Amino acid sequence: MHSVFETAQATSAIPITFATKATWDAIAANLPAPAREFARANGFSAKPGAYLTLPTTDGAVAQVLFGLDDETSRSRDPFRPGQLPGLLPPGVYRFANVAADDARLAALAFALGSYRFGRYRKTDAPEVRLVPSDGVDITDIARIADAATLARDLINTPSNDMGPEELALAARALAQRFGADFNCVVGDDLARQNFPLIHAVGMASSRAPRLIDFTWGDSAHPKVTLVGKGVCFDTGGLDLKPSGSMLIMKKDMGGAANVLALAQMVMDARLKVRLRVLIPAVENAVAGNAFRPLDVFRSRKGLTVEIGNTDAEGRLVLADALALACEEKPDLLIDLGTLTGAARVALGPDLPPFYTDDEDLALALSACAKRENDPLWRLPLWPPYDSWLDSKVANVNNAPSGTFAGSITCALFLQRFVEAAASWLHVDIYGWTPSAKPARPEGGECQAARAIYKLLSDRYG
Ligand code: BES
Ligand code: MN
Ligand code: ZN
Repeated sequence: MHSVFETAQATSAIPITFATKATWDAIAANLPAPAREFARANGFSAKPGAYLTLPTTDGAVAQVLFGLDDETSRSRDPFRPGQLPGLLPPGVYRFANVAADDARLAALAFALGSYRFGRYRKTDAPEVRLVPSDGVDITDIARIADAATLARDLINTPSNDMGPEELALAARALAQRFGADFNCVVGDDLARQNFPLIHAVGMASSRAPRLIDFTWGDSAHPKVTLVGKGVCFDTGGLDLKPSGSMLIMKKDMGGAANVLALAQMVMDARLKVRLRVLIPAVENAVAGNAFRPLDVFRSRKGLTVEIGNTDAEGRLVLADALALACEEKPDLLIDLGTLTGAARVALGPDLPPFYTDDEDLALALSACAKRENDPLWRLPLWPPYDSWLDSKVANVNNAPSGTFAGSITCALFLQRFVEAAASWLHVDIYGWTPSAKPARPEGGECQAARAIYKLLSDRYG
């Protein structure tokens, strides 16, 4: 159980009353006169995010008032209560008047908003606990919050402590916890076992590249395979990134982190799937043996790939992993990765594009994304742009010369390596919150995993 939830003492918990500009007058009218005067004297008017503690006569906290966005506001943020852990004094709380429809996301926001990254110094981690509202599935919410913590911790850990080996250790720990079969192909074994692209991208680092592979669940259940981009640091390779772009590239294993978070939720909920997780874990480094622009490699699938740009490395390592995934014809193949700057130009950091030709999947996923407040937006696998990936010497080039539609052309590149999956979903995530928002502290972020978990639990729960 996530440490933020308190299931024991419901009676002594301090009530948090939510108010909007529209409901505040009625709420104020029902307060004891001194409390009402105290709120007025403090200028509380239920603005979104406004916060006030009301004292008891002997100076303790009697209750908390917190302003929410109006029900009809276009910019209403269901995660607004995620600000509370950063505001409240230590204690045990409960929501006094949350609407039944909002209780679930409010509790989740409270848990997500309590996260602090504490690996390298003592943090100001909020000492607050929440007694869950009646009727919310607190086990499921705790499961989701715990998985988000895993994703955030993995992403926030800097590359010197989160290389390919450390990422593999984290994956192995997760696999062992749920009794999954774990395997890992390391270093030159990648070349010997025919993962040429993973090997090519990862070989310039002193930290050996590897392919993480674990399998869980009943083999008679539908095969769901998750593939995550695990680039533990992306310098850009020889087509080196400028310093500003390189700065946060410790997050370039965000796809892997979110795949592990998703796998944790799926296994913990014991969904009826045969789960497989594939993570190519590499560092895109610079050295004398680095792969070069215009090098050509024969990929696992057999397609020859010309390197237009060594900074388009994520799609290369995913290509070999996707080819491996397809060798056992999965029912559903999902890959997540921090693949393009172009996705951010198109939709910004908080709205990752997703790609699939499966119309039912697209509809269901869009609905889950909305319901879970884990926004996703569909973009097309636009066939007319596929020829932009043509190479003059090989079957395909990893980086089109133009800069148009960069997230789409990346998806089209990956699609060339997906053959036998009954259904394929690709999400070009950012995995990072650039500036703190309610329930979303600045730094590594759990993105797309929550929405996909709901999709999988609807189908296989
Ligand atoms: N990891 C980057 C993508 C990225 C950059 C994600 C910044 C989030 C923020 C990826 O490996 C990359 O460098 N992509 C290139 C592709 C290009 C060379 C075709 C890009 O987006 O510029
Ligand atoms: Mn790159
Ligand atoms: Zn990258």
